[in-house]
Amino acid sequence: MDVTELVDPTDAQIRQWHDVLTADPSAAEVPSVEHTFALLLGANARQRLWAAPDAGGFAGVAALRLPGEPGADRPGEIDVQVRPAHRRRGLARRLLTAAARGLREDGRSSVIAQVSAGTAAVPFLESHGFTCVLTVRELRLRLADLPPGHVASLLAAPPAGYTLARWRGVVPDEHAGALARAKDAMADLVEYEGSPWDAHRVREMGELVAKRGDDLYTVAALRDGVIAGFTEMVVPSADPAHAAQYDTAVVPSHRGRRLGLWMKAAMLDWLTAERPEIEEIETDNSGDDPHMLAVNHTLGFHTEHETREYQATVTDLP
Ligand SMILES: CC(C)(COP(=O)(O)OP(=O)(O)OC[C@H]1O[C@@H](n2cnc3c(N)ncnc32)[C@H](O)[C@@H]1OP(=O)(O)O)[C@@H](O)C(=O)NCCC(=O)NCCS
Repeated sequence: MDVTELVDPTDAQIRQWHDVLTADPSAAEVPSVEHTFALLLGANARQRLWAAPDAGGFAGVAALRLPGEPGADRPGEIDVQVRPAHRRRGLARRLLTAAARGLREDGRSSVIAQVSAGTAAVPFLESHGFTCVLTVRELRLRLADLPPGHVASLLAAPPAGYTLARWRGVVPDEHAGALARAKDAMADLVEYEGSPWDAHRVREMGELVAKRGDDLYTVAALRDGVIAGFTEMVVPSADPAHAAQYDTAVVPSHRGRRLGLWMKAAMLDWLTAERPEIEEIETDNSGDDPHMLAVNHTLGFHTEHETREYQATVTDLP
């Protein structure tokens, strides 16, 4: 089966592409047809597209995004999909080979791919020079599954020398500066990027959530009245049954004292009383953060899905 490049894809070709993206009934998520059109036509970055035509449609497709200018010191981004009926016949390998040529022509030295753990993408990429550089786990806690008394038992022995503070909405003035410093404590986490926080920026963040109509809840651990750690939760107005964990951080000099678990248990205690309509809490964890993962598992969170980012050096590609 030949692999051909699609330059300026027609509407019919985009629909055929979409058919490949939606052909796998076991896929974690399938895009809408509008999303596929936007992806193939809109393109925030330059991209090249390849497909393997078969019986009036496509058996497999590959998209290569090329952010920045040619030769930019940034990885390309690849996505390969093959219809289930055409798998294990070397088609993805041929599509990857075409994309590897595209990467070389664009002067790129590396490429990344985002995939779901536990799928065929993992052995495919690992047998073609890719290594996993990042894992993100989506965790969920169903409040109905919490054993009675679980949260109370976690709150029963507070870390010595600390007190709790909590507020809804924008941070009170007396805590704004210390909250900014605690937010900067997240800078040592692998995934976290951004400019330093200050009191103005933490207030702005609270105002932004309020402007969307959502509710921001914060629980902080204080030592001598100053924030040593905090955890934030947002209850969206559009879907208050599903609360989302925002940032949690403990200032480095206060780590190792179970503050994370204590603050998060206090947040659960507060929200279950104040917002009984909440059914589930969702959070993301970096696979490189075993402490936060352990805290969340102790609270009762379960991993729902794991996304992995794979990277390869172009010289290792076929
Ligand atoms: C991952 C995917 C693209 C592979 O397509 P494919 O055409 O079946 O792959 P190939 O036939 O080219 O496989 C080449 C090699 O990869 C490895 N491989 C691919 N699928 C595998 C599987 N299910 N289990 C174990 N190894 C596998 C094998 O080494 C295989 O060689 P072999 O068949 O001689 O043993 C396809 O399963 C798919 O579309 N999955 C859903 C979308 C997705 O996850 N895409 C990845 C994003 S980059």
